[in-house]
Amino acid sequence: MSAEHLLLTVDDVDDHNHDGGVMKFQIRDLRKVSDAGVPILNGINVGIPKGKIVGIIGPSGSGKSTLLRALNRLWEPPSDTVFLDGRDIVDLDVLGLRRKVGMLFQLPVLFQDNIRYGPNLRGKKLTDVEVSKLLTLADLDSSFLSKTGGELSVGQAQRVALARTLANEPEVLLLDEPTSALDPISTQNIEDVIVKLKKKRRMTVVMVSHSIKQIQRVADVVCLLVNGEIVEILKPNELSEAKHPMAQRFLQLSS
Ligand SMILES: Nc1ncnc2c1ncn2[C@@H]1O[C@H](COP(=O)(O)OP(=O)(O)O)[C@@H](O)[C@H]1O
Ligand SMILES: [Mg+2]
Repeated sequence: MSAEHLLLTVDDVDDHNHDGGVMKFQIRDLRKVSDAGVPILNGINVGIPKGKIVGIIGPSGSGKSTLLRALNRLWEPPSDTVFLDGRDIVDLDVLGLRRKVGMLFQLPVLFQDNIRYGPNLRGKKLTDVEVSKLLTLADLDSSFLSKTGGELSVGQAQRVALARTLANEPEVLLLDEPTSALDPISTQNIEDVIVKLKKKRRMTVVMVSHSIKQIQRVADVVCLLVNGEIVEILKPNELSEAKHPMAQRFLQLSS
């Protein structure tokens, strides 16, 4: 089974891929041009299979963050370009979409009573036991229940941010270089949690990383983004087989 078979079913939105899996997201001819007229995304066509970890790598400025931000409408994509469970995301309630499609950034943003924040917004009060469960899921012990932002390392803060995102019971996690500010141990903790979420909760994950080794550790399939285009879709252990010249150059320089 080639990697393309896992992902490329652009002609049948909400349908199954050749692997028999269901597509969580379908992205069809997604384009973006900057205000100055510079192309940022040049017609992205890809499916994100449910319950898999899709890695996105590529040179900086290639459009990775822009692509990720389109998936929960931090940037509003045109209609008929991004489908979640077969529905055009621009037709969905935007706050509901962002609960379903949680996002974690490079540096965690923390504030008071982090983990209860999202559920509170929709009138749901989490008990201490529920918060402890979320912390455990993010590989933290319940002492973190009472800790404030200033007492945490960046690695711990990132795991608290993950617990906060998980409190919304998302179906998809968008991760934009979530470990690039972390030490190797914290990085491994986050990677372990992500893989566990996939295995135990069938979480769908789209992860941008500048680390090819990280992508090889966690991803099921890898998209190479160059100049706003997906130029290759490969299995993590087949990255050296990339054919696109820019992709080859990027991989050589990064490894
Ligand atoms: N809102 C914006 N307006 C104009 N240019 C933008 C905007 N957002 C991103 N860009 C440009 O689009 C390109 C892709 O950016 P980005 O998605 O952040 O790339 P990456 O995450 O791969 O580094 C860059 O050249 C960036 O300068
Ligand atoms: Mg980026």
